[in-house]
Amino acid sequence: MTVALREVAKSFGSTQALRGVSLEPAAGEVLAVVGANGAGKSTLNKILSGALAPDTGEVLVDGEPTRFHSPLDARRAGVETVHQHASEWTIPGLSTAENLTLDRLASGEDGAWASPRRLLPRARAVAEGLGLHLSDATLLDDVTRLGVSERQLIAVARSLAQQPRLLILDEPTSALSTAEAERLFDVVRKLREQGVAILYVSHRLGEVDALADRVAVMRDGQLVATFAKPFTREDVVNAMLGELAEEIQRPSGHVAGEAIVRIEGARLFAHSEPFDLDLKEGEVLGLTGLIGAGKSELLGALFGLSPLPEGTITLDGRPIRPQHPAEAIGHGVHLVPEDRAAQALIPGWSVRGNATLALVRRFFTQAGNERRRVIDLIRDLRVRTAGPEAPIESLSGGNQQKVVVGRWLLKPARVLALDEPFRGVDLGARRDIAAKVRELSAGAAIVVASADVDEVLEVADRIVVLSHGSVVQDVLAADASREALTLAMNA
Ligand SMILES: Nc1ncnc2c1ncn2[C@@H]1O[C@H](COP(=O)(O)OP(=O)(O)OP(=O)(O)O)[C@@H](O)[C@H]1O
Ligand SMILES: [Mg+2]
Repeated sequence: MTVALREVAKSFGSTQALRGVSLEPAAGEVLAVVGANGAGKSTLNKILSGALAPDTGEVLVDGEPTRFHSPLDARRAGVETVHQHASEWTIPGLSTAENLTLDRLASGEDGAWASPRRLLPRARAVAEGLGLHLSDATLLDDVTRLGVSERQLIAVARSLAQQPRLLILDEPTSALSTAEAERLFDVVRKLREQGVAILYVSHRLGEVDALADRVAVMRDGQLVATFAKPFTREDVVNAMLGELAEEIQRPSGHVAGEAIVRIEGARLFAHSEPFDLDLKEGEVLGLTGLIGAGKSELLGALFGLSPLPEGTITLDGRPIRPQHPAEAIGHGVHLVPEDRAAQALIPGWSVRGNATLALVRRFFTQAGNERRRVIDLIRDLRVRTAGPEAPIESLSGGNQQKVVVGRWLLKPARVLALDEPFRGVDLGARRDIAAKVRELSAGAAIVVASADVDEVLEVADRIVVLSHGSVVQDVLAADASREALTLAMNA
C-alpha cells in the first residue's frame, strides 16, 4: 500500500500554504520533511491524514485518486498521524490507561462501561510498544499528571498500536530528551524494517541525519529539493533557508560581566551533590541534561516554584529565597515555563493580544507603543503572519511558539529563564530568538534550558550540564563538543 500526493495545492484566505506538492513516501523508508516555520509541512500532513482536503491536486492510494473525507477514512487506508504538539492530543480528565486505549474506547469494543482497571493489560501493552513502562498507579491516574514528554510518547504509542502502513510523525521529539528520542528512533527503525512508510517532520537536523533515507525540503509551500542518502547537512540547510543561510550565523565575541545570581552550596534533591553556579550579566547560559537531571528544579528554585532543599541564592548581592512566582517576579526574575498549557495561547485573540499578554499594562502609555513593539517582535523573530491583528491560530506551530517566547522578551527582566523555548522552532528562528535574547542579556542574566545538546550549542555562550541534580560540566560553548556534553549528560 502506498499513499502519495500529486500536485496538491491548499490556501487559507490569501495565504498559499501549498503550491503544487507531489510526494510519495515509499514502503520501508523514512522520508524526512524539513523546512522553515510556515513552509507548509503540517498542512501537507493534514492532507495526507484526511484532516484537510486539498483545493486542487490529488491524494493517491495505491496510485488511485482517493478522497479522504475525514481522518477516519485515512486511518482505514492505514495512515496514522502523530500531530504536532501531540501532548495536547491527550485528553485531560481521562486516565493514562484510557488515553492509551482511546481507539478501542471510541470503537465501543470494550463496551461503554469499560473501567480503567479493565483496560490495564491492553494499555500496558500499548505503552510497552514504545518501551514505556508505567506503573498501575500511573496508568490509573489522570493523564495530566504526566509531564509533556510522557504525554507526547503516549500519543505516539497510541498510533503505533494501530499498525499503520504510513506513519506520519510531525515533530515527534520536540518535547523529548535525547534519551527518549533515541528510544523513539529505535522504534522508527524497526517499523522501517517491517516495511512501514514513515514521514518524519523535524527541525532537528541531527535526527534527520540519523534517521532519514530521503529528505524533502520545503520552502514557501513548495518542494524545493529532495536528497537521497548520502546527503550533507550543509546541502539541507542551504536548500531550507535559501539566501538566509548566509545571514544567520552564530554570534561571537561573547564577554560576560559580573555575576547577577550566585547559587552556592545548592542541592536540588535531598541526596544530590551540592554545587555552586553563577549567572552573569551579558551571558546566555545553556542548561542541559536528561529529563529528571534537575533542570526544572533549578529553574523552579529561582522562580519560587520549588525552594532548594539546601543552599543559598543571592541576586545582586542580596540573598533571596522566593516562595512564590509573584515574589520572584518582584525581584525581576522571570521564567518562560516548559509546559505551554500553563501559558496557553488564547485562541481567537490576535498575534498582538497574545504577544503582550505577559506585559503589565503600565509599561505602556499608549496602545500605539504596544503595537510598535509587537511589530518589532514580528520582524526580529521573523514571525510569519499577515500582521499583528491576525488570529493566532492562523500561524504555523513554530510561529505560534515564537509569539509565546516573544511575549516574555518584551518584558524587562534582571534574570530571564527560558525552559525549552525552541520546541518546534526552525533553525533560522532559533538563531533569531537567540539574537533577541542576547540583546536582552546586556542588562540581564539569561538561562536557556534544553534537553537537546545541539540547541544549547547553537545558542549558548556557556554550557552547564546537570546530571543527577548536580553540575557535572561547566564550559564555554566555544570549548564544548557535542560528544563531551552527551557523555557528561549520561554520567
Ligand atoms: N487554519 C489556518 N488558517 C490560516 N492560515 C493557516 C492555517 N493553517 C496554516 N496556515 C498558514 O499556512 C502556512 C503553512 O503552515 P503550516 O502549519 O503547514 O507550516 P509548517 O511548515 O508546519 O510550520 P511549523 O514548522 O511552524 O510547524 C503558514 O503561513 C500558516 O500561517
Ligand atoms: Mg507544523
